[in-house]
Amino acid sequence: MRRSLTQTVILAAAAGALPGCFALCLGEALGLPLWAKLVLAALGLPLGALAGWIWVSSLAARARTLADGAMELTRGKLGIQVSISGGDDEIGRLAQIFNYASQQLLAYDGETRRLYQNLENGMLETMVLIANVIDSKDSFTHGHSQRVGDWASEIGRELGLPEMDVRHLLYGGLLHDIGKVGVIEPILGKRSALTDEEMDAMRAHPAIGASIIASVGFLKPVLPAVRHHHERWDGAGYPDRIAGEKVPLVARVVAVADTWDALTSHRPYQNAMPTEQALSLIEGLREKAFDPKVVDALASIVRRKRSRGDRLSVADPASPIG
Ligand SMILES: [Fe+2]
Repeated sequence: MRRSLTQTVILAAAAGALPGCFALCLGEALGLPLWAKLVLAALGLPLGALAGWIWVSSLAARARTLADGAMELTRGKLGIQVSISGGDDEIGRLAQIFNYASQQLLAYDGETRRLYQNLENGMLETMVLIANVIDSKDSFTHGHSQRVGDWASEIGRELGLPEMDVRHLLYGGLLHDIGKVGVIEPILGKRSALTDEEMDAMRAHPAIGASIIASVGFLKPVLPAVRHHHERWDGAGYPDRIAGEKVPLVARVVAVADTWDALTSHRPYQNAMPTEQALSLIEGLREKAFDPKVVDALASIVRRKRSRGDRLSVADPASPIG
């Protein structure tokens, strides 16, 4: 409702014409000569115009304040309040309604965010539950999926990924081995080397996992982590033998987090490695098995945590207490 200067002047002039007419009528009633009536009219006209100008300008300024507030509201500044002086006219009432609506929108937004947060927490708890079910098939992998999720999301933050992608990394880590529900336990828990046939059955788990979650809409961004977390940077992985950046980033990150956790926790086929040994093994696989920038991000996190004295591998000596 921004009024142009010209429109304001026209309105002011129209308002100013009224006192001019009134002055002419007054002169007529008093029987004044024509020249005196014209003088009166000439005096009334600018005074009326000035009063009209002030009135219209004030109206335009108040309307502009309201319009600016509405613009801020549409930009997402929920709860914004406008302060309009000048009484209880239409614009004043419009301002009151605007302020009330803005507060209501802020309250609805807060309620929607709380509901979304509850929904998201519920989803996360469900995924942790699934991860625990997967890991419970093998006593050696207890807590593995949760740790992979934590490391993957930390690497995502180190890479500067948006928070939504970081969340997908957490979910991808939690669910990456969901396909192991389709692998029989004697193979999963076997303490000796797998036969070729058993290896084929084990290598089917990424594809099985992808088919399990394929129909779940909100897990679509997580699906690549499940299907491709055993692909390699050099293309020698499975199941699709894709290489480099053709492997989705979420899968490249989960692959590093998965290997890091496998190396730093006890497995049936190997004892856990100390942090420095595990890190140097992973760094040795830059541009072979792993995306170099993901390895570098892991190395930065590990070195930062080590400098704080964190114990990152079950093989690391426990920190002295006190
Ligand atoms: Fe896996």
